[in-house]
Amino acid sequence: MKQTILSGIKPTGPIHLGNLFGAVLNWVKLQDDYNCYYMIADLHALTGSPETYSQIDSYRRDAIINLITFGIDPEKSVLFIQSEIPEHCRLHLLLSMLTPISWLERNPTYKEQILSLNNKDFNNYGFLGYPVLQASDIIIYKANRVPVGEDQLPHLELTREIVRRFNNFFGDVFPEPEALLTPSPRIPGLDGRKMSKSFNNTIEVQDDEKTVEKKVMMFITDPLKIHKNDPGRPEVCNCWALQKVFATEDEQKNIERDCKSGILGCVECKRSLAKRINSFLEPYRNKRIELLKKPDWINDVINEGNRKAREKASSVLEEAISAMGIGYHGI
Ligand code: TRP
Repeated sequence: MKQTILSGIKPTGPIHLGNLFGAVLNWVKLQDDYNCYYMIADLHALTGSPETYSQIDSYRRDAIINLITFGIDPEKSVLFIQSEIPEHCRLHLLLSMLTPISWLERNPTYKEQILSLNNKDFNNYGFLGYPVLQASDIIIYKANRVPVGEDQLPHLELTREIVRRFNNFFGDVFPEPEALLTPSPRIPGLDGRKMSKSFNNTIEVQDDEKTVEKKVMMFITDPLKIHKNDPGRPEVCNCWALQKVFATEDEQKNIERDCKSGILGCVECKRSLAKRINSFLEPYRNKRIELLKKPDWINDVINEGNRKAREKASSVLEEAISAMGIGYHGI
């Protein structure tokens, strides 16, 4: 029996190279070995300010199209929309009764986000309960493994605590899910911080050739390599981090050698990097154009994904309600 995987992507912005190499391409690789559920976590996107809601629909559609473009195969995986499966919300409510507020308040992600919030009004109930909804997403499919980045580990730990508490009270209904930390390359943003929409330092998978070129030229390289012929230090250079992803091993050897010796200037290095990123993205650009010609097929894929997800989610929810002994059976 294959183990079950669940993961989700929040439609709060265009998918960028960080998402692609940190999540999506790993999801693609897991499809043969696991029973995979991949969702667009549009309910989680609602923890942003209400002014951002009008953008969710278009990010959600882009996410669907990009997941298929980059290799999520509807024949292998269940691809679905979180908000179309109301059982997530019902289980979320039940789990909220088992989750002490102190567990949520000590969550490091929450603490960090509170500090960065500039409007205290968004420090709301849904925001505090974000990881409880995430727990519900995961366990409603009885997922065993959750491919996530390190930033999500506290959320997963909370899921495990909630599962233990549930199972203690009501019997072994849910498996304790484990993180699946797949090694992925470091993808720094243009300014060297983590690539993230909120830092405005991303290269998006839907950027056209010219935009990729323009952005790559903005990359911050080794600050001590001021003149073209100064020797560079690849280990501190953001361009090098990406060359390691997009260049072949032989090319990497040359880049490293010529950067260190000072033969290779940053401008030339960036031009070659932009070319490499563009030729990596090119086939996907074409695939996306082809996909967009088949909107009915995409809708069928999502409807079918939603149907399969809902079938599983509602049966597990039933099981949970019955274990809790709270079902209504008439007078
Ligand atoms: N919180 C995740 C993120 O910000 C998105 C997410 C929602 C998720 N539900 C999930 C990830 C369930 C894994 C499992 O990236």
